[in-house]
Amino acid sequence: MRAFQASELGSLAKFRIEDAGAPNPGQGQILVSVEATALGFVDQLVMRGLYQVKPPVPFVPGGEIVGTIIALGEGVTGFEAGQRIACWQFGGGLAEQAVAAAEHAVAVPDGLEPQIAAAALLDYLTAYYGLYDRGGLKPGQSLLVTGASGGVGSAAVQLASASAATVIGLASTDEKREFVSALGASRVIDYRDANWRDLLKREFPSGVDMVFDPVGGSLFQLCFRSLAKHGRHLVVGFASGDGIPSLPANLPLLKSGELVGVDARYLWESDPARVRQILTIVLELARSGQIRPRIARTFDLADAAEAVEFVTVSNRLGKVVVTP
Ligand SMILES: NC(=O)c1ccc[n+]([C@@H]2O[C@H](COP(=O)([O-])OP(=O)(O)OC[C@H]3O[C@@H](n4cnc5c(N)ncnc54)[C@H](OP(=O)(O)O)[C@@H]3O)[C@@H](O)[C@H]2O)c1
Repeated sequence: MRAFQASELGSLAKFRIEDAGAPNPGQGQILVSVEATALGFVDQLVMRGLYQVKPPVPFVPGGEIVGTIIALGEGVTGFEAGQRIACWQFGGGLAEQAVAAAEHAVAVPDGLEPQIAAAALLDYLTAYYGLYDRGGLKPGQSLLVTGASGGVGSAAVQLASASAATVIGLASTDEKREFVSALGASRVIDYRDANWRDLLKREFPSGVDMVFDPVGGSLFQLCFRSLAKHGRHLVVGFASGDGIPSLPANLPLLKSGELVGVDARYLWESDPARVRQILTIVLELARSGQIRPRIARTFDLADAAEAVEFVTVSNRLGKVVVTP
C-alpha cells in the first residue's frame, strides 16, 4: 500500500511515497480504498510542524478523504463494504488506503463525484459551523468575508449567499474578485485599495452584521471596526501569516459587539454527531448544485509532493485534490 509519509515533521522535502503496509481497521473504524483526498492551507502547516497539534509519526497528510469501504472494524454499524463514504480527520488520505473513525464518516450521496465531495469537506464544515452554529447568521443580514476566494472564505460566500444573506467579499486580484462574484457575493472589494472601507461604508453606512475572517493580519481590526452595533466577528484563521492580531477591548464595548472563535477541530472532537449532520447537509447541497466546490487542480498520488507545494501558490483558485 503506497502512502506519502514522513517519520519527522518540519520540512515538506522529508515526505516521500513509501510502501506503508496494509492498514487494519480497529474497533469502530472503517478501512477505505481512497478515491480522492483534498488538501488545504492547514495540511502544509501540519506537515511543517507549525500547527497547534503535532500528529504522531510516521505521518500521512491529507484529512479530507473520500473512499470506498473495503472492510469494517468491530462494532461498526450502518455502513457496508462497497459503499462510498467521506470524512474529515487529521491525516491519512495521501495513500491508497486509509482508516477512518466510523463516528466521523458520512455516506456520499449518489451522483456526487468523489473529487467534488472531497473538496466540500473541511472548508464547508468550517464555514457552516461558523456562520450558523457560532454566528447565528440570518437571512437578510450582511456578511463581510476576508480571503473570500480561498477555501474556507469561498465556502462561506456560497453558503451565506444560498441562505439569502448579503455577502461582501474581500479579494486581492481581478481574477479572484470575478470568482467571488460568480459564487454569489453581491459586492467584492479590493482590500489592497487604501480606501476599501470607504467603499464598504458607502453601501453599509451603519456597518455589517457579521465578519467571517480566515485571514487576520492587518485586516482584522479594520474588519471589526466595520461591524454594525451588535455585530459579530468570526475568528476563523490567520492566513495572512502576519502573526496573531489583537484588538483593543474598547472596540467590542463601543460596538456592543462580539469576537467569536470558530474551531472545527474542537467541534470534531466534542460533537461528532453535529459534524456528521453538517457534512450530510453540505454534501447534499453539493449534489443538488446549490454549492459548487471548485477544484484548482487534480494530482496523482505519485505527484503528492507537487500537490502540497501547489496549495501555497498565491493565485490558486479552488482546492487541490489528489487521487491515488
Ligand atoms: N478555524 C477552523 O476551524 C479552520 C478550518 C480550516 C481552515 N482554517 C484556517 O483558515 C485559513 C484559510 O485557510 P484556506 O484553506 O481557506 O486557505 P486558502 O485557500 O489558501 O485561502 C487563503 C486566502 O487568504 C488570503 N490571503 C491573504 N494573505 C495571505 C497570505 N499571506 N498567504 C496566503 N493567503 C493569504 C488569500 O486571498 P487574497 O489573495 O485575496 O488575499 C487566500 O485566498 C488558514 O489560516 C487555515 O488554517 C481554520
